[in-house]
Amino acid sequence: MSTRAPAVEARQLIKTYPGDVTALGGMDVTVEPGTVFGLLGPNGAGKSTTVKILTTLARPDSGIATVAGHDVLRHPDRVRRAIGVVAQSSGADPVATGRENLQLQGRLYGLKGAGLHRRVDELLDRFTLADAAKRQVKGYSGGMLRRLDVALGLVHRPEVLFLDEPTTGLDPEARTAMWDEIARLAGDEGLTILLTTHYLEEADRLAERIAIVDRGRVVVEGTPDDLKGELRGDAVHVELRDAVGEAGRTLLSGALTRLPGVHEALFDGRRISVRADDGAAAVPALLGALERAGVGVVAATVARPSLDDVYLRYAGRRYSEAEAEGADSLVLTGGAR
Ligand SMILES: Nc1ncnc2c1ncn2[C@@H]1O[C@H](COP(=O)(O)OP(=O)(O)O)[C@@H](O)[C@H]1O
Ligand SMILES: [Mg+2]
Repeated sequence: MSTRAPAVEARQLIKTYPGDVTALGGMDVTVEPGTVFGLLGPNGAGKSTTVKILTTLARPDSGIATVAGHDVLRHPDRVRRAIGVVAQSSGADPVATGRENLQLQGRLYGLKGAGLHRRVDELLDRFTLADAAKRQVKGYSGGMLRRLDVALGLVHRPEVLFLDEPTTGLDPEARTAMWDEIARLAGDEGLTILLTTHYLEEADRLAERIAIVDRGRVVVEGTPDDLKGELRGDAVHVELRDAVGEAGRTLLSGALTRLPGVHEALFDGRRISVRADDGAAAVPALLGALERAGVGVVAATVARPSLDDVYLRYAGRRYSEAEAEGADSLVLTGGAR
């Protein structure tokens, strides 16, 4: 691990919105320079709020944050010069062309003349937008627009690039293309990237470290290998006739995890999710143990561990539930962000 100062450091960020919405409840993030860091979480988890605070677009109620060594509250101007931001929704001007958008952005950062021209050409090339450079942005496909957004964030050669949900809304082909672009950027010398996503696969592919965020806090952090390693084996889901009480859970969990090749049993209502080296092999033993304990079983299924399993384990509820809640709260607060 590097001994240089972190490129991004946030400690205990708290942010509430009117109506008693706790967007961040003590958010901690540390990103080492020159690495790609992924904030992974369902809708409403607080990812965009974190990005807004780190990019000086919002103020935390409390907590501290530095980006590229500058305090976001005391020196927002210095932070802004050091960073590039690709917001969740595009910031490009739809009636200007791709080239005009890049030129304008460059001028805002003090580039001009031949230097500006060269930089714009370089970015148009790099993001395969050269052929579309003279077209109005409103005619771009989703993938082209997203590539332009990233190019806009890079015009002034920032040290730290923030990508808020870079592939949400893209079709699978455009998403894969964007993954390749981001992976290439990550190879650029010195560039630090903080990206947010609600796709496990995306974080897995692009990020050297991932923080899983739920309800405004980090619930677990590590390399993708660490996180996946925890979930090695199969998931066996057992549907029970009746929910099991707290005391019964402790007993059952002990009995189940004593079975050979069984590592963990998590309870969720009438369902038990068990992690086993070989799911199919574990089912008979699991059913036997449940029968001896007098617990009625309705069904048992074997599956590879999914994002749901990661979430259930670290956040105590299913990812799909969390996504549904997040979607509700977005509707209630009436905003796309
Ligand atoms: N401007 C705002 N006003 C009120 N509530 C907000 C605002 N921005 C975000 N929120 C709420 O804060 C929580 C976190 O939102 P956000 O950071 O956008 O999550 P994410 O980007 O992970 O989907 C959500 O409950 C959201 O509804
Ligand atoms: Mg968001």
